[in-house]
Amino acid sequence: MKFSYKETTKTFEEFNQDINSLSVAELKKKYLSKKGNLKDLLKKIGKQKNEEKAQFGKEVNILKNFIQEKINILNSGLNTKFSTNQIDVTAPFEKNTPEDDKPRLLNNLGSTHPLTQELENILKIFQKMGFEIEESRQIDDDYNMFQSLNFPIGHPARDNWDTFWTKEKFVLPAHTSTMQNRILKKYEIPIRVVIPGRCFRNEATDASHEHTFYQIEGVYVDKDISMSHMFATIKAYLEAFFETKLDIKIQPSYFPFTEPDAEFVISCPFCEKKGCSICKYTGWIEIMGCGMIHPHVLKEGGIDPKKYSGFAWGFGLDRLVMIKNGIDDIRKLHSGELEFLDQF
Ligand code: DAH
Repeated sequence: MKFSYKETTKTFEEFNQDINSLSVAELKKKYLSKKGNLKDLLKKIGKQKNEEKAQFGKEVNILKNFIQEKINILNSGLNTKFSTNQIDVTAPFEKNTPEDDKPRLLNNLGSTHPLTQELENILKIFQKMGFEIEESRQIDDDYNMFQSLNFPIGHPARDNWDTFWTKEKFVLPAHTSTMQNRILKKYEIPIRVVIPGRCFRNEATDASHEHTFYQIEGVYVDKDISMSHMFATIKAYLEAFFETKLDIKIQPSYFPFTEPDAEFVISCPFCEKKGCSICKYTGWIEIMGCGMIHPHVLKEGGIDPKKYSGFAWGFGLDRLVMIKNGIDDIRKLHSGELEFLDQF
């Protein structure tokens, strides 16, 4: 967590030290009481120059929520690690280890994982756009993962979604599209649902491939829905996510469950198409697969393709978080490395 004003930075640093030495009651008195440090800061908002008020106010509020949350955790006794007499059985060192030999605990209070932070942010954007949220699942069957999506048994494109199977022929879903048939059957038209979920692939890992990752699927069905609705919806979402205007391009692609199929490409949000390391000096970034839901898929979901049409998409959450934060290796996201996580 970084603050740009002297006052907020000082209070943040002081709190992080106090939390190791003061009791909960003392912390409450020092920070949350009527005469506490935070009240002072809140009062100072009004005294800032006009152009500084918004930013200063935002920082004070972030700090206030942070302090309040940490004190709540301590209060509920979850963080017994900080009370001096108790032994923390999860500590990665022995009780009598000299202070200097202890592994460095970075931001020793922990923080929300970057994938969770962005997932929450993304779901809020879609909720504002009128979408409902449904969670995917981590084990499924051949019908949902393939057959209902227009991949009959033996279809060669199944190989592109190679994943893990149990002896009983259950499957660890390789994409969140495994939920499409359920969504089509469950929801009344108009359907507008986003489906976050964990996915699995049987592949060798490297800086841009993981066997386990997250996707967010979108399904939209109504009367007279066309590709232009799809382009506008996805573009509006991505502009909200990257907090900037974007140009878009559509490239042909292939998925058995859409017709036509597309790869959604955006102008690089960081260099305005000039070329930078994030867009590999091309000015453009391929961001997700999408398309108009195939009539067979609609029919299998109990929807008459002559009356209704719709679109769907699926994108990798991990990849989007990497692009937004300039992370160069997907494996860091699942590494549990404190040096990495402490930056968020
Ligand atoms: N499931 C696809 C994948 O994993 C992404 C995708 C493409 C999802 C098109 C869709 C879609 O719903 O319509 O690569």
